[in-house]
Amino acid sequence: MGLVPVAPAPTMNRREAELLASIEAHLEHAVERSTLAPNLREAVRYALLGGGKRLRPILTLVCAEVSGGRREDVLDAAAAVEMVHAFSLVHDDLPALDNDSLRRGRPTLHVALGEAMAILAGDALLSLAFESAARSPRHPDRLVAELATATTAMITGQVLDTLGGFEASQSPESRLQQVHVNKTGALIRAACRMGAVGVQAPESTIELVSKWGDCVGLMFQVVDDLIDETQTAEHAGKAVGKDRAAGKLTWPSVHGLEATRREIERLVEQSRVVVEPLGADAAPLREIADVLAARTR
Ligand code: IPE
Ligand code: IPE
Ligand code: MG
Ligand code: MG
Ligand code: MG
Repeated sequence: MGLVPVAPAPTMNRREAELLASIEAHLEHAVERSTLAPNLREAVRYALLGGGKRLRPILTLVCAEVSGGRREDVLDAAAAVEMVHAFSLVHDDLPALDNDSLRRGRPTLHVALGEAMAILAGDALLSLAFESAARSPRHPDRLVAELATATTAMITGQVLDTLGGFEASQSPESRLQQVHVNKTGALIRAACRMGAVGVQAPESTIELVSKWGDCVGLMFQVVDDLIDETQTAEHAGKAVGKDRAAGKLTWPSVHGLEATRREIERLVEQSRVVVEPLGADAAPLREIADVLAARTR
């Protein structure tokens, strides 16, 4: 099975291509310097270096620059966020969770290398993530804490999504919101915050990119739900059409397709309002929000 070409996208400009290249090189370097048995290294490489849009590390780098800092200072933090994300995907695909066999256009890790290795490679990615965050040149302690909080929230979201555990009185709308904010929103929010924290931005700037990350993080999962209902597996590079059948709480299943599209627009608009105080400096963030709202994979 061929790899779905995820990057660089045809519309990518030179600056974006540079960002991506520095992220790929840093991820590669982080795996190579780690002490891993050869078979575990192969599994980690498969999960981490096998494509992906790299949205979260891009956000970390862009938020560092929007905060007036240098992207070099947050490369370890950016790699750390992507490692937690890769771990979350490997475990999300396991038979006990979503039981998926296609990811980023290839067999999922447990299909390729077995379930035991997928569980253990996920574990390794999680610890490599914190090793990377701790190596950050500035504010490593705070970056580690930001990543830990978001990872715990992501896992909480995955538990709610997979096993439930809501308040009995909670409405479907409120349950859906709780799942999405936690399973996806928290890590995207952290990716943005860590960009600002890692360049020692003022608290007001950290709060601003954090609020933008809340809007975009939530929007990202609403679009993911839409992709599940409207795209083909071949295009998306992963199984689609499964959420409804599995009885998942998704935006289209709770609110309908039209309301889902309106919610995406509303969240993009809200993200624009949030960054208004930054004026022209917020242009990269506005551009990213627009691209993410329109994405189909
Ligand atoms: C997929 O994330 C899982 C969600 C949180 C919706 P991405 O769509 O960012 O996956 P990759 O990294 O590009 O494969
Ligand atoms: C995944 O949500 C969220 C994670 C924390 C991995 P989904 O289960 O909807 O993600 P996909 O559709 O498999 O990528
Ligand atoms: Mg899932
Ligand atoms: Mg899934
Ligand atoms: Mg999905």
